[in-house]
Amino acid sequence: MSWRDILRLLAQRSKRLRKNMKSTDGVATNGEQPVFNNGSCISSTSCTENTSVSTTIHRYEGNRRFHNEQDVNYLLPTDTEEDDRVNQQHWLIREAFGSHFSAPVHDLLENGTKVHDAGCGPATFTLEMSKMYPASNFIGTDVSPRFPESIKPKNCTFQVYNVTLPSPFPENYFGYVHQRLLILGLLKDDWPKVIKRHMDTLKPGGWIELTEVSYLKEHLKNAGPHISQCMDTMYSVVAGAGLHPNAGPDLERILKEAGFINVETVTFYMPIKHSGKIGDLFWEDIQMGCNAALKYFISMDPSFKEPGAMQRYLELIGDECSKNLTSMPWMRVYGQKPDNNN
Ligand SMILES: C[S@@+](CC[C@H](N)C(=O)[O-])C[C@H]1O[C@@H](n2cnc3c(N)ncnc32)[C@H](O)[C@@H]1O
Repeated sequence: MSWRDILRLLAQRSKRLRKNMKSTDGVATNGEQPVFNNGSCISSTSCTENTSVSTTIHRYEGNRRFHNEQDVNYLLPTDTEEDDRVNQQHWLIREAFGSHFSAPVHDLLENGTKVHDAGCGPATFTLEMSKMYPASNFIGTDVSPRFPESIKPKNCTFQVYNVTLPSPFPENYFGYVHQRLLILGLLKDDWPKVIKRHMDTLKPGGWIELTEVSYLKEHLKNAGPHISQCMDTMYSVVAGAGLHPNAGPDLERILKEAGFINVETVTFYMPIKHSGKIGDLFWEDIQMGCNAALKYFISMDPSFKEPGAMQRYLELIGDECSKNLTSMPWMRVYGQKPDNNN
């Protein structure tokens, strides 16, 4: 399948998602029917008050499903609507950076090594990579079992694992550790501990690669007032939850302090609603992300509860970013565990 085909399919799916986002029937879209304890308002995506219902590891707020364990700090939903966004995001990143990864691990993967994709989500990266590199073995882990249980390549397995807890994997085990977009899941204090754990499980000479963003408005290029205010909201929410809203630009420091060598950063300025397909896909991603984060916008400004308020807000932001050619930096940072000769 060519890139043109993939992007056409994504565009079709985006259209479907947009339609779903507009439909406010309030029923969970994952086939798993939530039990609402009070039978109260489940009628719109902005209805988040008094509708929180917990099952075991999940809780429902309005029509969105969230992870529900006390030691898990992940802010976004973990439902099929969010799976679709994260899958689409994988292809956006692939297209933007021009590759699935940036660390110099192609030969290692081709010759065969063990790979850990930490916080793999619905696992598009893990699955694609395991198809590309059949000689390597891939283990995708996530605190939420969102990964495929049955249909997967033979060299690919999945397991539930919270990266903030002691690792189930032996020391000096993996040749490559990949972790992407945990900015909304890890406390600021967690970052060095998690990276140290990855270091322990890597073989000497093995590589780690992380991809993250920053919610600091000063890091945007050509930002107008609306996108700046949106970033301020996200920054406050993320910092207020004790997470690290500026994780992307801090990764080099974290890796170096953990003892990694040959640390490099590849930055791509992702266009927001301009400059063609990447800008359009990123704009889809932002809209879906803001809707997934609606309850946090409401917590900062209750007027977001009004029907259509988020849509109107997004239209202002989209128009502004198209006009100003605004873009947001995404960072891939990789580094190597010293081997005995270093
Ligand atoms: C935005 S998704 C990214 C998924 C995948 N890395 C990708 O780029 O396609 C973030 C994922 O991190 C997972 N996550 C959050 N906190 C975690 C933790 N403490 N341990 C493991 N996974 C976590 C979430 O469940 C979610 O699936």
